[in-house]
Amino acid sequence: MSGHGLLNGKKGVIFGALNDSSIAWKIAEAVHREGGEFILSNAPVAKRLGGLDELADKTGAKIVWADATSEEDLNTLFSEAKAAYGGIDFIVHSIGMGMNVRKNRAYEDINYEWYKKSLDISAMSLHRAIHAATETGALKDGSSIITLSYIGAQRTFSKYSEMGDAKALLESIVRSYGYRLGKRGIRINSISQSPTMTTAGGGITGFDGMFKFAESVAPLGNADAASCADYTVSMLSDLTRMVTMQNLFHDGGFSTMGISDELIEDLAKAYS
Ligand SMILES: NC(=O)c1ccc[n+]([C@@H]2O[C@H](COP(=O)([O-])OP(=O)(O)OC[C@H]3O[C@@H](n4cnc5c(N)ncnc54)[C@H](O)[C@@H]3O)[C@@H](O)[C@H]2O)c1
Repeated sequence: MSGHGLLNGKKGVIFGALNDSSIAWKIAEAVHREGGEFILSNAPVAKRLGGLDELADKTGAKIVWADATSEEDLNTLFSEAKAAYGGIDFIVHSIGMGMNVRKNRAYEDINYEWYKKSLDISAMSLHRAIHAATETGALKDGSSIITLSYIGAQRTFSKYSEMGDAKALLESIVRSYGYRLGKRGIRINSISQSPTMTTAGGGITGFDGMFKFAESVAPLGNADAASCADYTVSMLSDLTRMVTMQNLFHDGGFSTMGISDELIEDLAKAYS
């Protein structure tokens, strides 16, 4: 797709690009295509895992490593963003980690230290990032904040476990902070994305089953990371300036469906 200059002149911070399958990686490419400039940020431990330098080279971005659970790191990051750009117009928060999910620990036998860490990384980090961005004076009036969520916040997907709780908290922070940010014309929304083949997605036991189930139910099929990136561009642009405090389903229609003919036929075959 060629760019339309939808984000010309806009500057921001994009969290969570780890490798070229990351949703944030595709978002960074799409924001760059539309004329936006940004700092890429990820946890210092991700330095040895990903290829962030390649993305930074391609998009002309600077990298600032920051653990999203550290107020100090986030203050440094947003101070650097303010110094580089004078102020920022958008934040993309695309961060998630389910410690119990990753270690196959059942929900009813949860490790509480890991549970706290999962909520801290996956949800409270959004609060902390906004706090740091406002305290440092980096976040401009009229800016747009996007975070990534999943329908497990509203409905039980057994294998999603503690991450359902984390996403419910994340979406609540969108509403609670949204009210306060609205006074400065700043908007914040979560995009509730289809199952997507990424490192975080692949870390969920049974992910392939969840992916296939959603694919067979959603009338448009699962939304991929590139289409999520295009949707994110629209949410960062002025075209959506009156949308805030929403959880926006980007899932090919999955969230409104009950069951599809395809799934009924598959189930009938499986049980015949
Ligand atoms: N993949 C899916 O099926 C799916 C579906 C809906 C929503 N999401 C959400 O999309 C977002 C991005 O995930 P993804 O699927 O692109 O996977 P990903 O693994 O590529 O991205 C997750 C990112 O979180 C970062 N991260 C983890 N701990 C951190 C910390 N302490 N500080 C800073 N960054 C940290 C990781 O380094 C990584 O870059 C997550 O919020 C995820 O829950 C994913």
